[in-house]
Amino acid sequence: MLPSSIQIVPLHPLDFAEFMDYLDDHLSDNGKDGTAYFQPSPQGQHAFSPQRAAAFRGALDVPLSQHGWRRAWVARNATGQIVGHVDLRSHTERWSAERCLLGMGVDRAHRKIGLGAALIEHVELWAKQETAVGWIDLQVLSNNTPAIRLYLRSGFKITGEVRDMFKVDNQYFSYTDMTKYLYANQH
Ligand SMILES: CC(C)(COP(=O)(O)OP(=O)(O)OC[C@H]1O[C@@H](n2cnc3c(N)ncnc32)[C@H](O)[C@@H]1OP(=O)(O)O)[C@@H](O)C(=O)NCCC(=O)NCCS
Repeated sequence: MLPSSIQIVPLHPLDFAEFMDYLDDHLSDNGKDGTAYFQPSPQGQHAFSPQRAAAFRGALDVPLSQHGWRRAWVARNATGQIVGHVDLRSHTERWSAERCLLGMGVDRAHRKIGLGAALIEHVELWAKQETAVGWIDLQVLSNNTPAIRLYLRSGFKITGEVRDMFKVDNQYFSYTDMTKYLYANQH
């Protein structure tokens, strides 16, 4: 069970710069020192561009009833340090209000204690309580075994794979699509 010293809370707009610093550090793990590639970008190119950061920040203010929304949560440890994150966002395509996309990560020093599973559980509950979303979708690099295991354990199903979608650092990466229907137990 997750230590009670770790709390999952909504990302406060005033904490956005701190969140970007955390994310920049988190993304620097991509493909490094035994960590699977989890972003389709070359090693070393991990900075969240100012444009992407501004789009992320702007989407946090979009009402849930409108296309283009995004919401994020952070896990903080006893000292207040961000040690994990999860976000849900609209699909790029319009007229897809019953679905959303999930992104997440856990700080390298806080993995394998159940935080990933707890972050997913947290946003599933939120989505059921606060939104019209019935399906959470995600895309994951097919080589990212730790993430795929976590998603399968959390009830996601694989719906497809695009073979050799990316060529990064001279390696091919396939892209796996997964989804979870939030009301599966009610049928
Ligand atoms: C993928 C990722 C989010 C998993 O997060 P996590 O917090 O380690 O996930 P969990 O702790 O819930 O589960 C991980 C493993 O630890 C195990 N575990 C969970 N709690 C445990 C505990 N208290 N003691 C021992 N093992 C434990 C789980 O059973 C699981 O084992 P498995 O991989 O053999 O199935 C994390 O590795 C990560 O951030 N990776 C880099 C970024 C990334 O891949 N993001 C996803 C992109 S799509």
